[in-house]
Amino acid sequence: MPTAPDEPSARGSGLRGATVVVTGAGRGIGAALARRFAEQGARVAVNDRHPDRAEAVAAQIGGIALPGEASDAALVPTALRRLGGTVDIYCANAGVAPSGGPELPDEQWDTAWSVNVMAHVRAARALLPHWLERGRGRFVCMASAAALTTMVGAAPYAVSKHAALAFAEWLSVSYRHRGIDVHAVCPRGVRTAMRRSAEATRNMMLTSVPIGADEVAGAILAGIADGRFLILPHPEAAEHAAARADDRERWLRDINRLQQQREAGQQAG
Ligand SMILES: NC(=O)c1ccc[n+]([C@@H]2O[C@H](COP(=O)([O-])OP(=O)(O)OC[C@H]3O[C@@H](n4cnc5c(N)ncnc54)[C@H](O)[C@@H]3O)[C@@H](O)[C@H]2O)c1
Repeated sequence: MPTAPDEPSARGSGLRGATVVVTGAGRGIGAALARRFAEQGARVAVNDRHPDRAEAVAAQIGGIALPGEASDAALVPTALRRLGGTVDIYCANAGVAPSGGPELPDEQWDTAWSVNVMAHVRAARALLPHWLERGRGRFVCMASAAALTTMVGAAPYAVSKHAALAFAEWLSVSYRHRGIDVHAVCPRGVRTAMRRSAEATRNMMLTSVPIGADEVAGAILAGIADGRFLILPHPEAAEHAAARADDRERWLRDINRLQQQREAGQQAG
């Protein structure tokens, strides 16, 4: 059945009246995305683990504050209740980026796994019955260019973002014929608090020219309108992924040089 112009739509670009959840939207990319959706006439639920941040952004955009952990299984049922029984678009944006490798304590690995991966799995688990019954739904996975390549200096981040992208791909291949649209967003450096803390640890995000959170939000809305799975706010990320796929041995040598530069910078600095 054709969708009326103003009818909330999970397919196509009609966002007026659509119900949207953005996790980790109290600042950074999530806040910019929540703002963009609200500007398009969507009803936005703003999640953040910091209640004050969720409330401030919700107040700015006329949305609903949804404070709490993005990985909490209760988040989707609460969002459904607060948004009047529907969630058209779910943006699994909240993420954490601990710096370090296997030496990091299990708690840091567990947190990265929980926020960057299991939050997406739990949201999909709760949303799929609702979406499959309606025959439509849209899941936006905030991955990272680290999911296409790696992240020097941040093993839990690289590993969990690869897993998040793999889960988004799995959702797409399993449910696209049943009306579920999935997008995976893979930015390089973005000027946010997360990047500022990466600066302190000199990881690979610093090799890219950072863009603004609003540019990422714009790229996501454009990707949704085009129905694209892979959304690359930095187009060069596609070349980096292709270089890795074409010649893994050379790519490993090249990235190891970045690691060596990082070590030299740490010694100097
Ligand atoms: N900044 C970058 O350079 C960059 C690049 C690629 C991908 N990303 C991804 O974009 C997403 C957003 O990053 P950002 O740069 O805006 O980060 P940010 O740290 O600036 O903001 C993240 C927000 O999410 C909230 N948050 C963190 N964990 C949460 C949880 N468990 N539950 C609810 N809220 C939580 C924080 O309180 C914060 O308000 C992340 O998934 C990140 O991995 C960022």
